[in-house]
Amino acid sequence: MSEILVQNVDGVATVTLNRPQQRNAVTYDMWRRLADIFTEFDRDPQVRSIILTGAGDDFSAGADISEFDKVREGAGESKRYEVAVDGAGDAIYAVSKPTIAALQGYCLGGAAHLAMSCDFRIAARSAVFGIPAARLSIVYGVSATRKLFSLVGVTAAKRILYTGRRFKADEAIDIGFIDGVADESLAAAYDLAAEMAENAPLTIKGAKFILNGCARGQLDPEAAEQLIDEASASLDYIEGRKAFKEKRPPRFLGK
Ligand code: COA
Repeated sequence: MSEILVQNVDGVATVTLNRPQQRNAVTYDMWRRLADIFTEFDRDPQVRSIILTGAGDDFSAGADISEFDKVREGAGESKRYEVAVDGAGDAIYAVSKPTIAALQGYCLGGAAHLAMSCDFRIAARSAVFGIPAARLSIVYGVSATRKLFSLVGVTAAKRILYTGRRFKADEAIDIGFIDGVADESLAAAYDLAAEMAENAPLTIKGAKFILNGCARGQLDPEAAEQLIDEASASLDYIEGRKAFKEKRPPRFLGK
């Protein structure tokens, strides 16, 4: 059985971490595979949005610590390992389509990086969060820490990283770490994907590029202007106006 399951139904792709016996702990190979999967889905015009979730009771208990002796020994290997972790997080962050993390059970350490790389995080009430890097003498990476900072601010980020303590969904929503709580997080994620599915992909692509640039403090205004122009010159812009005049819902193609 594959350690990562993928499917695409009606434009909503689902990526499922699938090692429930190990609480979906993510191996070195899985970090690399995740980067490829999200990059491929970004290029696939049949995919309108992507949901990331875990099989069974948990989203994921983070990096697979049991293989650290083999793949994350000392500074050199650790660097290589962290490149793979950041490669997955940054590939998710770079997807030009909406991404939603559907969370339940544990969401710890590197798994929090995956969740924070998505546009939205919806958690079941069972969800338990934490970044226990301080229990392993690991410095949480720059890319992940930047995402944490942009979600919760500096003081809450320090509290999470210095203490390594676990916290639940109600606290996670209070500090802005997640943006939704639901009885069934996956069902709520599909509802949110459906809500966005009818909208113009080029609008979402442009909005995401600008907002991610603002969040990172590195907005490329020229690239943003190109996306704005792309939308203005698109068939979808013609369709949007036509549909308005004809009093019917628009049918957007993303071009
Ligand atoms: N890496 C590798 N294996 C993991 C894992 C991880 N991050 N998290 C859980 N597992 C494995 C356990 O070793 C156990 O395997 P076993 O049945 O072969 O012993 C199995 O998953 C079930 O976990 P278990 O620890 O028995 O469940 P629990 O309910 O007692 O505790 C956790 C759950 C998540 C609190 C605990 O497993 C834990 O602290 N995991 C590490 C979390 C962590 O530090 N993540 C950050 C990594 S950067």
